Amino acid sequence: MTQVLHSHRLPALPAGLAWRMQGPADLGQVESVHRRAVEGVPPVVVKHFTRAFLHGFLAGRGVVPGIETSGGELVGFGLLQHDLLPDDDPRPHLGLSQRPPLAKLAGAAVLPEKQGEGLQRLLIRARIALAEPGKLLFSTASPVNPASWKSLLSEGFLIRHFEYPYGGLPRFVLVRLPLADNADIALEYQDIASEDIPAHERALRDGWVGVASSGRPALVRYQRARVTP
Ligand SMILES: CC(C)(COP(=O)(O)OP(=O)(O)OC[C@H]1O[C@@H](n2cnc3c(N)ncnc32)[C@H](O)[C@@H]1OP(=O)(O)O)[C@@H](O)C(=O)NCCC(=O)NCCS
Repeated sequence: MTQVLHSHRLPALPAGLAWRMQGPADLGQVESVHRRAVEGVPPVVVKHFTRAFLHGFLAGRGVVPGIETSGGELVGFGLLQHDLLPDDDPRPHLGLSQRPPLAKLAGAAVLPEKQGEGLQRLLIRARIALAEPGKLLFSTASPVNPASWKSLLSEGFLIRHFEYPYGGLPRFVLVRLPLADNADIALEYQDIASEDIPAHERALRDGWVGVASSGRPALVRYQRARVTP
């Protein structure tokens, strides 16, 4: 059974759109939006989900806020995953003294004709609002998918690690932790082209943190900054 989301917890949407939690009965429309969004986009940019994965998600591995038109057409959705595989755990790479419980922003899709209108930013905000307080939120994004990593950086996620999941595809690992409030450290920065993977790996190994996007062609701004757990 599906559920109308409590709108007071969620960001306001443009006129004519509303939030609705997607459930198992919505598998068809969720899969259809996903397929249309990733059509022609190779896996190096974005993972293509199977119907079984989406079904498992809608059946309880996570929650799926959807954006629908007043006519009930789904135009975008985001996945917030609670039930994670051990391989997915970024905490060993983060040097955290504590081990906070995790939730993952595990994917999102917006119909091609609705892209570029800020809906992904709103889907990220909605999932932050829906996550249980105290959970460490993380996500992964391909360096060659700027719409994905830019919007995560804009919503307070930081690039903290680099990995090669899904059979060896390069991905930033982004985590939502506050930057230490230290002006001297924050003043030191460098910009790295999004596709320069060795430079990202080097910077992350050397203690830099990706904090923002910067200019075109797509650049990631790194600061040498401590991050508070
Ligand atoms: C990724 C996706 C969800 C983005 O949705 P969207 O609603 O168009 O994104 P937004 O309009 O909220 O834009 C988010 C940011 O990306 C930027 N952006 C959007 N498209 C971009 C592009 N092609 N190149 C560079 N930046 C882009 C926007 O300017 C915005 O940045 P800003 O906040 O700094 O201005 C959508 O393109 C999609 O469904 N793609 C296929 C599936 C996918 O890649 N999912 C992501 C996996 S997590």
